[in-house]
Amino acid sequence: MLRSLSVIVVALLWYYLSSRIQVPNMAPIKNVAVIGGSGNVGKAIVQELLAAGFVVTALTRSSSSSTFPDGVKVKKVDYESIDSLKEAFGGQDVVVSAIATPAVQGQKTIIDAAIAAGVKRFIPSEFGINTRITGGTAIGKILSGKVAIVDYLDEKSKSNPEVTWTGVSTGLFFDWGLDNIASVDFDNKTVRVVDSGNEKFQASNLKYIGKAVASILKHPDQTANKYLSVASFNVSHNEIIKVVEELTGTTFTVDRVDSEELQKLGEEKLSKGDFSAFLPLLQRWNFADGKGHAVKPGDSADELLELPKDDLKESIRAWLTKNGRL
Ligand SMILES: NC(=O)c1ccc[n+]([C@@H]2O[C@H](COP(=O)([O-])OP(=O)(O)OC[C@H]3O[C@@H](n4cnc5c(N)ncnc54)[C@H](OP(=O)(O)O)[C@@H]3O)[C@@H](O)[C@H]2O)c1
Repeated sequence: MLRSLSVIVVALLWYYLSSRIQVPNMAPIKNVAVIGGSGNVGKAIVQELLAAGFVVTALTRSSSSSTFPDGVKVKKVDYESIDSLKEAFGGQDVVVSAIATPAVQGQKTIIDAAIAAGVKRFIPSEFGINTRITGGTAIGKILSGKVAIVDYLDEKSKSNPEVTWTGVSTGLFFDWGLDNIASVDFDNKTVRVVDSGNEKFQASNLKYIGKAVASILKHPDQTANKYLSVASFNVSHNEIIKVVEELTGTTFTVDRVDSEELQKLGEEKLSKGDFSAFLPLLQRWNFADGKGHAVKPGDSADELLELPKDDLKESIRAWLTKNGRL
């Protein structure tokens, strides 16, 4: 009796202590400002935020001619001016940044303005490979701007528990980048494959990424101060080719690329300050035999975010149809 009583006391004490050190519960999120909402992934994010019932404000550069769907408030801003940003962030609960790659470093000013305006959650422009594991690598050097921004958010959240962030790794944009991912040459009936073509990599359709962002904001407490990985699927080159062959009735000849050559090419370019090094380094990161960068079941946030899996065959069918191959 005494023993079970002490177990209950310990359990209650544990519950009390752990609730004290957690991030304070966030009020439900309503107002979401999106940066880069006119871009490749930004459009899908805006669409899915609207579909999930959030009130969306799109920030866009004064010089921009971007257009946005009905129902989106639009604010022109100067990303270098804290005052311009702070004014635009007034009343916003969240900022989602899907800003273009060359502008990721400028997010520091955007974060400072968001915090000053009382924004409670910042989602930085990640949406690619998991930058938290790129330290000490050549590709990590190119992605150092993104890494520094997540570090900065982490620092801010530690000194002010009201400030929270969520990073999202999505792997390759599958439906957007399949031409490059699969390198299928329909005219010459050839495909370009790295190493054996069996390595699985992380990939997400744009709509899936939009849904992931909306779901993060529907689960603010579970996603606070976390770097999450999502994927429509983990897939290999050979699996893609098999589906393309099956759907088109075409047999392709494989043109094989050695991943070590990609690394050499990437490092050579990088040593000359040529950032086109990113592509070969990215291909090696994802496709080389044994890299192991597919999302492992225990590391995936798909379940937490209640995201239904996309179907590989249907995704490829849509791509082939769009390109007039079906
Ligand atoms: N995983 C993948 O396969 C993959 C592929 C591509 C990109 N990404 C990543 O996804 C994120 C978004 O990339 P994206 O391709 O969707 O972006 P994007 O289409 O190139 O650009 C998004 C928006 O950013 C704004 N913008 C463009 N240049 C800017 C500048 N110099 N300064 C400030 N704003 C600028 C523009 O909006 P306004 O004109 O409205 O201002 C633009 O529509 C990035 O982090 C990128 O690295 C991942």
